[in-house]
Amino acid sequence: MCGIFGYLNYLVERDRRFIMDTLVNGLSRLEYRGYDSAGFACDGDSDDTAIIIKQVGKVSALKKLVDEQQIDFDKAFISHCGMAHTRWATHGQPSQLNCHPQRSDVNNEFTVVHNGIITNYKEIKLLLTKKGYVFESDTDTECVAKLTKYIYEDQKDSPNFTFTTLVKAVAKELEGSFAFIFKSTHFPNEIVATRRGSPLLVGVKTAKKLKVDFVDVEFSNPVEAPSSTAKDANNFLAAADNGQPQLLQRSQSRAFLSEDGLPQPIEYFLASDASAIVEHTKRVLYLEDDDIAHIADGELHIHRLRRDENGATPSATTRSIQTLEIELAEIMKGSFDHFMQKEIYEQPESVVNTMRGRVNFENHKVTLGGLRGYLNIIRRARRIVFIACGTSYHSCLATRGVFEELTEIPTQIDIASDFLDRRTPIFRDDVCVFVSQSGETADTILSMRYCLERGALCVGITNTVGSSISRESHCGVHINAGPEIGVASTKAYTSQYIALVMMAIQLSEDRVSTIERRKEIIDGLYRLPGHIKEVLAGADNLQQLSSQTLSKEKSLLIMGRGYQSATCLEGALKIKEISYMHSEGILAGELKHGTLALVDENMPVILIMTKDSLYPKVQSALSQVTSRKGQPIIICNTGDQNLVNEFKTIPVPQTTDCLQGLVNIIPLQLLSYYLALLKGQDVDFPRNLAKSVTVE
Ligand code: F6R
Repeated sequence: MCGIFGYLNYLVERDRRFIMDTLVNGLSRLEYRGYDSAGFACDGDSDDTAIIIKQVGKVSALKKLVDEQQIDFDKAFISHCGMAHTRWATHGQPSQLNCHPQRSDVNNEFTVVHNGIITNYKEIKLLLTKKGYVFESDTDTECVAKLTKYIYEDQKDSPNFTFTTLVKAVAKELEGSFAFIFKSTHFPNEIVATRRGSPLLVGVKTAKKLKVDFVDVEFSNPVEAPSSTAKDANNFLAAADNGQPQLLQRSQSRAFLSEDGLPQPIEYFLASDASAIVEHTKRVLYLEDDDIAHIADGELHIHRLRRDENGATPSATTRSIQTLEIELAEIMKGSFDHFMQKEIYEQPESVVNTMRGRVNFENHKVTLGGLRGYLNIIRRARRIVFIACGTSYHSCLATRGVFEELTEIPTQIDIASDFLDRRTPIFRDDVCVFVSQSGETADTILSMRYCLERGALCVGITNTVGSSISRESHCGVHINAGPEIGVASTKAYTSQYIALVMMAIQLSEDRVSTIERRKEIIDGLYRLPGHIKEVLAGADNLQQLSSQTLSKEKSLLIMGRGYQSATCLEGALKIKEISYMHSEGILAGELKHGTLALVDENMPVILIMTKDSLYPKVQSALSQVTSRKGQPIIICNTGDQNLVNEFKTIPVPQTTDCLQGLVNIIPLQLLSYYLALLKGQDVDFPRNLAKSVTVE
């Protein structure tokens, strides 16, 4: 959902080639967030000029374009700032003009990169058009670049006018969600960045040790009201809380001093997520909504756009530097052809990482540190509501049965967007669980804020430390699957599934009646990595099946029931999103209520028939399909000889019923991967999609 990246060096000599390579490389790390176009802005030959280079398509196309430029790549800069963007188009088609950075004017006085959507851009555009601004793109972002120039022209002579006060005045006018980086030829070597609803973090790299590892957040101390554009006839620049725009005093704290107190060489990296920063530095600071970060003269200062409700100072008045735990190797493909393939093959390991230090296989106990102190509240909840989107939603569906069985707490599962659309009633004694790989999915975050407002306990289950959901929820579980770069989620699904099973086990540890069942599940978890390896070892069979039986088909039905209903939905989602083949997950119990009409000798069907208490019922689904001349491919347990003799099968090892979905999803992930390859699709970058959906 768009990735933004910024780079600023201070007292560190870097040539233009290095700066451009750093920007382009940052984009390539963020490319999974959007790949409709890419671009960057950096300094021209003098401080009052900026170069913008942008290109439709993937980052590789931008890289090629850079190499073709007739510019002085050796020109050195002691201090410099650049910004870059990879786009997932929301407003305006992928085209050269709609690529970011967007600019205020032909001289590139203000350049802006943006992740998010400005919902009131039409009003802003109309007013600026009336004032003579001519727009060159269809993007909402261009309004922001032009609005910045408009306010600059209006306020530049006001006392205490700074780049920060300018961006603050701009941000006050904006509705919607955003993370922005601003650059200006009027403020050379300075960057201002701000966010509301879209993620943004700042990496800090120094040779010397930092004297302080936090930044004081400064709150609005109005010092002087500038000439207010609120006086403007159109009155579209709203005044601040007290009727006057407020200025912030520059923080007195020198944020990053070396231990000897002297200005030190320093480099800053801003990015939508940590994967673009980790190869430069592991020291990062996460910005909060309405933070305005200003970097100049080697210092980082954070200001606030507004006070909290009631004008109070927000509780956190510092932003600390944290240490990233991911490694560069985790975000590289290594010997694999695609991130998705790598992530599928990582699962024997990633599931172990999810359980590490949490499941005691000898004592049959589960301890989730992130829920410590909240277990009794959860146990006493009148219901648990699971809220998520896409694959994360499927992980909730997959574990609902075991959750209900072990905890006996009434359980509801909702797709986040639908949960919001219905304005679902939520009460103080509800517990709401938000499952999200990225922790940044807009619908899920908005659902969480809705539940927080209604006083429910909010539990976050995410794969991204420092994400909005992990920061804003009361408590939660980090699934520890490691960075997932492939747009199609694979290892995050299996880790979410396990996290939810672990949560159910821990919540039921006070129930003697379920001891044996818990032991059985924990033993199943112990054997899981081996089972996944066994399925992965059969990948050749799946590759053959894809090429010989499925790749020419237009459609595919995946059927199953009980614990496997979620596997069908998730398998079908994987197939459609990366191979673009129509595929539907069918709950086998529903077959006779409509879908059976589709079945004939030509309709490809995969039936999941692994052994559990519903096996006899799935046998009737099989009969329903075969009596309509259907020829299903069957996912069955190894050794289910009757099926093996009669049908094309995908054998998988048998495990505890409620964990069988973790094993059964692997062949479907592989099938989707092979189908996409055979159809020549871009596995890691499926069309029209992006990894992290930070807009509603
Ligand atoms: C499908 C997929 C998506 C995500 C969904 C939610 O492969 O990845 O369906 O699961 O966009 O994303 P998160 O889990 O980041 O909230």
